[in-house]
Amino acid sequence: MLATTAVGATLLLSGCTEAASVSTIGAIRFTHPLNVPPLATSTVAADGTRVYDLTADEGTSRFLPGAATPTAGYNGAYLGPTLRALDGEKVEVRVHNRLAATTTLHWHGMHLPAIADGGPHQPIAPGAERDPAWTIDQPAATLWYHPHPHGATAGQVARGLAGMFILDDPAEQALPLPRNYGVDDVPVIVQDVAFDAQNRLVQRDGGFVGALGDQLLVDGTMHPYFDIRTDVVRLRLLNASPARVYDFALSGGQSFAMIASDGGLLDAPVTLDHIQLSPGERAEILVTMSPGERVVLQSRKPDLGTAGPAAAFGGSSGGSDQFDVLQLRAATRLTHVGEVPPHLVAVERLHASAASRERNFSMDGTEINGHDMEMSRVDEVVRLGDTEIWNVRNDMGLPHSFHVHDEQFQVLEVGGAPPPPELSGWKDTLYLRPNTSYRIVLRFTDYADPKHPYMYHCHLLRHEDDGMMGQFLVVEPGTKIPTTTTMEDENHDHH
Ligand code: C2O
Ligand code: CU
Ligand code: CU
Repeated sequence: MLATTAVGATLLLSGCTEAASVSTIGAIRFTHPLNVPPLATSTVAADGTRVYDLTADEGTSRFLPGAATPTAGYNGAYLGPTLRALDGEKVEVRVHNRLAATTTLHWHGMHLPAIADGGPHQPIAPGAERDPAWTIDQPAATLWYHPHPHGATAGQVARGLAGMFILDDPAEQALPLPRNYGVDDVPVIVQDVAFDAQNRLVQRDGGFVGALGDQLLVDGTMHPYFDIRTDVVRLRLLNASPARVYDFALSGGQSFAMIASDGGLLDAPVTLDHIQLSPGERAEILVTMSPGERVVLQSRKPDLGTAGPAAAFGGSSGGSDQFDVLQLRAATRLTHVGEVPPHLVAVERLHASAASRERNFSMDGTEINGHDMEMSRVDEVVRLGDTEIWNVRNDMGLPHSFHVHDEQFQVLEVGGAPPPPELSGWKDTLYLRPNTSYRIVLRFTDYADPKHPYMYHCHLLRHEDDGMMGQFLVVEPGTKIPTTTTMEDENHDHH
């Protein structure tokens, strides 16, 4: 779709989008305990592989008084269990599809073979199963999983198909950080939703960026609170929304310590009083609580960088909306779990000087470098072992983002300047401010495969579904690759 079409389509809606700016600040009675996703159970096979089972299925959830809401989830009616594995462990996930539609299951942020990546080339038909397996080979991090079927991702994620995947490693385990899952180490999966009069989830047009909801679910819970019994709590924030950008802050304006970005721990905690996350991004933060204190995690109006005529044509993009997200309720006596450590891990720096080539990506309309996603076209071929610089530019006045599969990257420059501290660590997803260039550095290690591509794309899911995605292969040096392939969708199904 061309930019002009997209803008034209939202023109009629922009008036009501502007008028309908949302604020739930102060309007929420926190009536439901946070429904922390259970940790996934697993078995260990004879060769040591940790094996999980995830079944995607339809169900119903009670979000509102009255009718139940049709939803979907993994091993349950909404969202999925939290998978957890240690660096170096071999894992296998048996993914069963009991949905009426074809799905895939993608491991967002994971370094793994392309055949196991769960992108659009690994469909799972209704009734079928696929069992990706790989060895965890990256630092401790908060990753997540979600469907990635070609052209149909937004609807499946928005119905509830998503979950968290926590990776552990010895460096993280050696730090005095809260790590008692569901007690002082808490997944905070944030999604915006809208309901119709029958309590069904609906996708309300938010303008150029796609569907925006007027209410939030946190871990699938409406109006949630969380009881805290320790003086420091670790929140693993995940923006699992299709289009909405949040700017998380605490109700009293107090600061918190950001300890990790998408791909793992930072060198040192960064003291912030707000952290903006676009769809797909994560941050781990430490919040210090006083006995008996009540603090609300909120989302303030995000700074999308949109202004001027383009913004007016594109609707608000959610830039004027704000929300109460989650109430934190500290007990009157708190267990001491330690201070915020001054140093975390030594993050290896990727250097621009090590790069053997640069590539440019122009994000415009819902195209990348003037193309829609084409399943049979390989857009970029990368040599195994290479470090590369990718110049990614949002060439329009409206929001986009950029996500790369397989490898975490580091941000070198934002609009020609060094990145802010919250973008100083490993990243796999980046908000792209309008008319702004980003320079990122990546290193492609492991898993050369001339047949199976990885994806890069805008993580505003409407844009991804509309074709704002490209494919890259990682190959052994010297491999000759045609830029168009007859790649068949492979499906190693068993029923
Ligand atoms: Cu979170 Cu290609 O996706
Ligand atoms: Cu991904
Ligand atoms: Cu986009």
